[in-house]
Amino acid sequence: MNLADQLNIDAAEQDSQQQQPNRHQQQQQQQQLQQQPPGGKPGKPSLPLAGGLKLTVGSTLETGEWKTGGVWLKKDKAEHEAVPGNLQIIAADDMVKVKELGRGCFGSVWLAKWRGVEVALKELLNSGGGDTNPVEVFQEAEKLASLRHPCVMGFYGVVTDKGSCATVAEYICHGSLRSGLLKIKKKGINDKRLRAYMAMQGAYGMEYLHLHYMVHFDLKCDNLLCDLRDLNKPVVKIGDLGLSKTKKGSFISGNMRGTLPWMAPELFPSVPGAMSGMTHREAEDRVTERVDVFSFGVVLWEIWTLGDQPYPNLSLQEIFAGVMTGTLRPAVPPGCDPAWVSLMQDCWHSVPRMRPSFTDIIARLEAMLQRWSQQAPAPGTAGPGSGGAAAMQAAHAAAGVPRGAA
Ligand SMILES: Nc1ncnc2c1ncn2[C@@H]1O[C@H](COP(=O)(O)OP(=O)(O)O)[C@@H](O)[C@H]1O
Ligand SMILES: [Mg+2]
Repeated sequence: MNLADQLNIDAAEQDSQQQQPNRHQQQQQQQQLQQQPPGGKPGKPSLPLAGGLKLTVGSTLETGEWKTGGVWLKKDKAEHEAVPGNLQIIAADDMVKVKELGRGCFGSVWLAKWRGVEVALKELLNSGGGDTNPVEVFQEAEKLASLRHPCVMGFYGVVTDKGSCATVAEYICHGSLRSGLLKIKKKGINDKRLRAYMAMQGAYGMEYLHLHYMVHFDLKCDNLLCDLRDLNKPVVKIGDLGLSKTKKGSFISGNMRGTLPWMAPELFPSVPGAMSGMTHREAEDRVTERVDVFSFGVVLWEIWTLGDQPYPNLSLQEIFAGVMTGTLRPAVPPGCDPAWVSLMQDCWHSVPRMRPSFTDIIARLEAMLQRWSQQAPAPGTAGPGSGGAAAMQAAHAAAGVPRGAA
């Protein structure tokens, strides 16, 4: 029995418990119902339900809304069905913009208040028309909503209003990790344990995405988010899981195919070199989740340099050609720990299968953190600086990931 039938039966049962009205009373009731103002709804006896639903006794459920003057506006079925069932739709009236946090090619990101609580509101340009299909946006938003991990930005729902669309996500107070790293540099903090701790959280988030068949495709410190209020327990989360494409059962996320200095060579199939002799399709098939590992190698470099920009003096053409042919990678920063150097270099290996998985990367970062914490315990400090096992436990606790002690 469907819900509508169930509700009809309930209504009938309720009637039978009451004293049955006589014919004259029934006529009077009918007249009253037809004369009722908007709140009482004219026409057939109907019950206003929560969530914009209307139940007309003796009929099925409808979706729509009551307009002023008591007019029931039935919602277009196709529009209604485009919104996946378990995606939260947030009312535009419940959202107040506070300040703009960033602006990219897809729209602006705002600090907003959702009925008084801070959230990040990301407006999607053209979401009501143009290139972006709202059905695709909803389907993608539903996938993002299914991700739940302490190192991946939390996703709450979407706001749709007059053809435009915005996503609502957890607000992470210090914004991009790149801006966070620059602040750390400015303060003169130079602690490799802090670096390992931040990198580990990015790796935990990426391991989770890959275990869920998701490829980010645009991993870089600009797309990692951070909360550095407690430097003993810095929080880093994967952000900008934006417009996506599905590829062979994997959900591929990120705008276009990434940002040039972070992009793996297999993402450039049309350039002579590593991909020569392949059709576009063959080259596409070689693209795996290891493209994110390549990018993570550059992220490790950004973290070590505390927010430097890779290849600041090269043109896009020079970067393109250099990365493609395997001759160009970011220069090893002076004083960089050998274990960090070797991890970066393994990550940005030209051959995808030679790159480590995020599970391997985590193990190597954990080993570094433990070793460094034992070598140089920071007297009187807690968190990443204090004692190997304790630091590791703190890192796991902050990431919320239960793991055996390394
Ligand atoms: N959840 C968030 N909390 C805080 N700041 C955010 C959040 N999401 C994005 N931002 C800020 O907005 C910037 C752009 O966001 P991003 O999602 O990367 O958009 P774009 O698609 O324009 O690259 C980020 O670099 C960061 O500074
Ligand atoms: Mg971005």
